[in-house]
Amino acid sequence: MENLGKLIDGKKIAGEIREELKKEVERFKKEGREPGLTVILVGDNPASQTYVKFKEKAAQEIGIRSQIIRMDKEISQEELMGEIARLNQDKQVDGILVQLPLPDHLDEKEVIEAIDPSKDVDGFHPINTGRLFNGQDDAVRFEACTPLGIMELLDREGIEIDGKKAVVVGRSNIVGKPIAHLLLSRHATVTICHSHTPDLAGETLQADILVAAVGRPKLIKGDMVKEGATVIDVGINRVDGHLVGDVDFEAAKKKAGYITPVPGGVGPMTIAMLMKNTLKAREYHGV
Ligand code: GUN
Repeated sequence: MENLGKLIDGKKIAGEIREELKKEVERFKKEGREPGLTVILVGDNPASQTYVKFKEKAAQEIGIRSQIIRMDKEISQEELMGEIARLNQDKQVDGILVQLPLPDHLDEKEVIEAIDPSKDVDGFHPINTGRLFNGQDDAVRFEACTPLGIMELLDREGIEIDGKKAVVVGRSNIVGKPIAHLLLSRHATVTICHSHTPDLAGETLQADILVAAVGRPKLIKGDMVKEGATVIDVGINRVDGHLVGDVDFEAAKKKAGYITPVPGGVGPMTIAMLMKNTLKAREYHGV
């Protein structure tokens, strides 16, 4: 088999995308207004703080005007909704991202639905997921950043999707469901597996494209991968102080045609796609 175990370098590809976006930001600046991204961070969840810092750093690097609004973990639903209403009206703000998870007393669904869909750079608003699920691309539509990053990796590596069998392990709203729809829209035959799937290996062994997004360290073993398959590992699990994916990388690499590492695979692409979505929102909003 030619090409066995080729690493998909998400870190490098994300860097290339950021360079491309930098040029687009220059164009927007010349037009009279740079893109603006506002991130709301409620409370002091350490992982969320790290993610938000990465997002701000990436935005600043490419010239997006970014702002983090930090809110106390005791904030009320009304205060948070008020802040979103204010940002919806602010013409300088193209993208609004509320970092999840929110503290338990807050209603995440109501918060997401309050964001102007044209500023929903996370692609979580039901208008945006609805347009994706209906295959509607005539209206502006934002797609969730991780699934979008996966599609970009596949395309930039020249991996064929049309007519292929794709198996997605995991059915979350953030990754599993949207990536299944994106692959479907590109004419893959898609199967979604989850905790009640009786014969997981039986399904994954048929995948030309295997996406693992369940958050279970090394769930996908080498003998669950079809020879020559493309394996996309979305898992970010902390085990004994190390980051481990949902795929047993060393074993799967021997079977896969292409494979993403953890870290340095899908992760950096998620942030690059957030930047891309912010520019798309700026294009839509105009100067
Ligand atoms: N928490 C973990 N992933 C994400 C994401 O993609 N967006 C937001 N807003 N919160 C998250």
